[in-house]
Amino acid sequence: MSQKRVLTGITTSGTPHLGNYVGAIRPAIEASRTGEFESFFFLADYHALIKCQDADKVHQSTLEIAAAWLAMGLDTEKVTFYRQSDIPEITELTWLLTCMTAKGLMNRAHAYKGAVQANTDAGEDEDMAISMGLFSYPILMAADILMFNAHKIPVGRDQIQHVEMARDIAQRFNHHYGEHFVLPEAQVDDNVATLQGLDGRKMSKSYGNTIPLFLTEKQLKKHINKIKTNLLEPGQPKDPDSSAVFQMWQAFASETQVQTMRDEFANGIAWGEAKRQLFELVNEQLREPREKYLQLVENSAEVEAVLKQGAEKARQSSSALIADVRSAVGIRSLG
Ligand code: TRP
Repeated sequence: MSQKRVLTGITTSGTPHLGNYVGAIRPAIEASRTGEFESFFFLADYHALIKCQDADKVHQSTLEIAAAWLAMGLDTEKVTFYRQSDIPEITELTWLLTCMTAKGLMNRAHAYKGAVQANTDAGEDEDMAISMGLFSYPILMAADILMFNAHKIPVGRDQIQHVEMARDIAQRFNHHYGEHFVLPEAQVDDNVATLQGLDGRKMSKSYGNTIPLFLTEKQLKKHINKIKTNLLEPGQPKDPDSSAVFQMWQAFASETQVQTMRDEFANGIAWGEAKRQLFELVNEQLREPREKYLQLVENSAEVEAVLKQGAEKARQSSSALIADVRSAVGIRSLG
């Protein structure tokens, strides 16, 4: 294995939004084009079940997120692009890792602790509505990563702990059964934009404050107009660095355009005008992908075929690794 491997997944529990695009899809596609790494990108549909038990929504989201990656120009010849649930070795590995994972490690997961804390604060039983899926979430994620011996895991800050847990689990497995897994590292890129949502918090489907990636022009304009601003009038200087409008501008603009908008803010550009320019900028970049996206969503069989091909490619690695690991734990033929 000469080239280092990069791997990341997106949970299929909602419609792809601008935050997914600038924070995950765009940087992943750009990195894959450099040819520096071998890239594995996937749809984390088993992870979706932890947060979303609406079957139609999980199904539709899988199509939309896959179509979004493809519409944005992912080259599936160059990368391995697949759906988690098409790789049965991942769930198999999850169990083998579960038996090597300390319960105490899982007790420390932020997402689980947060859920317990919320129950306690509400005066409820601390286990209320907490499934074993939520509790074991980091082990499934560790299996995603370790399955392909990925070195670099580009993630948002909220996922760093999960990658560290994958590393801990790999270490423990290697220590007990011999070297089988690469120890992965989280890669948090400060140049990758995190967008604020409509309410000023981080754009996230959990907060319901997102701007979907593929809206009609009219809807996109409407959403951009809803981004929270302050009461400063036209002509009054505005602070770009605390503005969600400027932040989104930065995520889509060239360096020169960023500087120009900075000056415009200092000169007191009206919020309406800043939003109009932002709409033009974003809309221009989404125009072509939007067409492609709509076409793919209408032809879901085409997307399915791409994913099936990706799974076949992925399983060349995963079937070899699982055979090795099964044998290592003592699950092997008696013949
Ligand atoms: N848990 C990640 C998220 O919610 C998605 C994910 C699942 C993932 N498996 C992964 C990310 C493996 C990186 C590597 O954002």
